[in-house]
Amino acid sequence: VSATTAEKPRKRYPGEAKGFVEEMRFVAMKLHTKEQAKEGEKEVKQPEERPVQRWEPSVDGYLKFLVDSKLVYDTLEGIIDKAPFPSCGVTVVLLSAKSSFFFRFPASVVRSNEKNKVISLMWSASDAEFRDTGLERSEKLAKDLQWFKEQGYTIPEPSSPGVTYAEYLKELSEKDPQAFICHFYNIYFAHSAGGRMIGKKVAEKILDKKELEFYKWDGDLSQLLQNVRDKLNKVAESWTREEKNHCLEETEKSFKYSGDILRLILS
Ligand code: HEM
Repeated sequence: VSATTAEKPRKRYPGEAKGFVEEMRFVAMKLHTKEQAKEGEKEVKQPEERPVQRWEPSVDGYLKFLVDSKLVYDTLEGIIDKAPFPSCGVTVVLLSAKSSFFFRFPASVVRSNEKNKVISLMWSASDAEFRDTGLERSEKLAKDLQWFKEQGYTIPEPSSPGVTYAEYLKELSEKDPQAFICHFYNIYFAHSAGGRMIGKKVAEKILDKKELEFYKWDGDLSQLLQNVRDKLNKVAESWTREEKNHCLEETEKSFKYSGDILRLILS
């Protein structure tokens, strides 16, 4: 093979060999500060990026954080409950030699070639099942807010960071499945890692070590996370490199929106 006809080696992306979740994790870890996680590379700019050990949280601030987090989880889990991206349906024309079939599928499951023939369905029913993963947090947060109420606290209305993020997630679910998946991954996996650590530290400081439901999972958390990783990897297998990059590029926004909500703890 001459030098001119030999195929150039394709660019490899960090984590690629292990599957797409590893790629998402790699991008997310770099967006942490060194204080937050040892793989972090970002410099500290916001109050919530300082070491959690040095935070001075307030119960009122923490309640705002829990209320806004609940709105985000309600929204996310509501979207997923309604079937995968139902409102972004497209009509698919399956062309065969003899006849045409018309189906309506969510846009996220359909891939077609340039002649508009369906060449593959990205999601089969079993792969696409992000319902009842065991990572859901909405009901747990409802219990925690009820507990605060019983302790005599007034539960605030959701504030701007939560409302803004919820609106954005709804928008993405209708038009941008790859970006939506990025938020899905970061929201649930961040909570299982740094989120848990934050919960423990905050409880030590202001809740007399009370362990909230938000930080408890039914079943083995590492197994629940692994099941979701497997499904995410499966879904991303049928994405083009451009779609994958688009998903990875959304990570920064995920940090921005979640950071705005985290900061409420310190308000
Ligand atoms: C993982 C801390 C905020 C997304 C982690 C880990 C730590 C951590 C200690 C585990 C690292 C390891 O596996 O060795 C923190 C702290 C935060 C914070 C202290 C804020 C005060 C965020 C935010 C996001 C995020 C805002 C995105 C919205 C992730 C993801 C992982 C992770 C995706 C990987 C989880 C996994 O490996 O399964 N974080 N983090 N983190 N964090 Fe954060």
